[in-house]
Amino acid sequence: MDLSLIEQRLLRALGEHDGKDARDIAAAMELGSSGEVVRAAAGPERHGLVRIDEATSTTYALTEEGKRHQGLGLPERRAATAIMVAGGELPMGDLASKAELDGGEVKVAIGWLKRKGWADIAQGKLMLKDGQPKVGADEKLLNTITPEPAHVEGDALRDLVQRGAVQEHESTTRTVHLTDAGRKVLAELPEELGREVNQITPGLIAEWEEMDEDAKAKVQLRRFDFDVPVAARHPGKPHPLTQIMEDIRHIFWTMGFQEIQGDYVESAFWNMDALFIPQDHPAREMQDTFYLKEPASLDVADEDLERGQAVHEHGGDTGSTGWRSGFDPDVSKKALLRTHTTNTTVRYLAENPKGRHRVFGLGRVFRNETMDATHLPEFHQIEGIVTEEGATFDMLIGLCRHFFTKMGFPDVRFRPAYFPYTEPSMEIEVKMDGRWVELGGCGVFRPEVTEPLGVEHPVLAWGFGLERLALRATGLKDIRHLYIPDVQALKEQPLV
Ligand code: PHE
Repeated sequence: MDLSLIEQRLLRALGEHDGKDARDIAAAMELGSSGEVVRAAAGPERHGLVRIDEATSTTYALTEEGKRHQGLGLPERRAATAIMVAGGELPMGDLASKAELDGGEVKVAIGWLKRKGWADIAQGKLMLKDGQPKVGADEKLLNTITPEPAHVEGDALRDLVQRGAVQEHESTTRTVHLTDAGRKVLAELPEELGREVNQITPGLIAEWEEMDEDAKAKVQLRRFDFDVPVAARHPGKPHPLTQIMEDIRHIFWTMGFQEIQGDYVESAFWNMDALFIPQDHPAREMQDTFYLKEPASLDVADEDLERGQAVHEHGGDTGSTGWRSGFDPDVSKKALLRTHTTNTTVRYLAENPKGRHRVFGLGRVFRNETMDATHLPEFHQIEGIVTEEGATFDMLIGLCRHFFTKMGFPDVRFRPAYFPYTEPSMEIEVKMDGRWVELGGCGVFRPEVTEPLGVEHPVLAWGFGLERLALRATGLKDIRHLYIPDVQALKEQPLV
């Protein structure tokens, strides 16, 4: 078995300090901490050369308050003395000044005077029952406690801890022992320990040239042992959802996209009508969409309303027949919480109808869903459009594939679907842990959407859900847990 230099040094040190506390061994080896000894002992322990014994013990130290009490006496003692000095009786109002008690201590003193049976209260006066009380076990014990944690015993400890004068500490001590096998290996260690190299440096390479075979043979490269337990580190890091959003932004940026944003509060017109969602569509009902009381309606430009109405009623100039049902501009003006982020892309198109555009948005949407392990009434969508001359359905498929592959899901499949605003339309599924999971929809915006806005080129559009991606990345099973600020779980959450 190959022992590293530090392991050999440990055996040597144990030859003299067998069974001692890891802290003492660290000192003997000139190491910074007992942790280093325990780490050095991990390999030899696995090979049965050493044994580490762990014992936990409880120690006690004075708190700031405890220090004050040790100096001045417990508040009830200070009070008793003050009453004594005053002749056995003292008006309650004088207690603070006479007994050198600060704010909170007056109450504490009176409480303990009663509890210990030292004094009575009558007519606003404190009266000692039996002259100066005898020094109690708690007071004796308090005097033995130090600012540094140490072993202490005594029945009164509990009271002192409870009243905050003494603080309990748990500590673990580790002792390291040489086994018989270890003793044998120690006996065979070379007189002079080798030289260990952690890192190959230019200096070492230059030196190597000059070294003779003997010296070279003594140089040992340090092996890394990945099984050695080390203290977990919990550095500050972004919340997993924030991290995933950043990753998504990077993917779109590298594909030449710009980010857009929109408001949560939207008119039914831009959330639905502009997307050719018929006014009697079931998803517009109260049970699916959150409508606002205040403001109950929002302004929509007359020309937008007129064009929308024409398209809905008879297709306008699009060549479509429209829905051939009624269109009520008041329904269009209703204020709601957006149910998808497609409102941001359609608004973008309304403002930028000409030319070539690639934009994406990441935002919160709201649906009147009952909360459970897979549904939330608020969640996020990853929205986007590409519009340019000759944009095709194939490009859209390639783009979605590219995005999900970059997110770590190379298995992507498309199923025919229906959205009132796209034709053709598809649902996208990706394979996660062997199961196909639906992640969103996409398609090419219909003329009923683009024509009234004066859009020049075909528009490829998509909207994906964010939370399912985040669940997979975090390994969480319940979507609600993404939003629970469980600090311990977040600390332990690996970077995603
Ligand atoms: N808005 C759709 C949804 O919320 C997704 C979608 C966006 C579909 C764009 C087609 C085009 O599910």
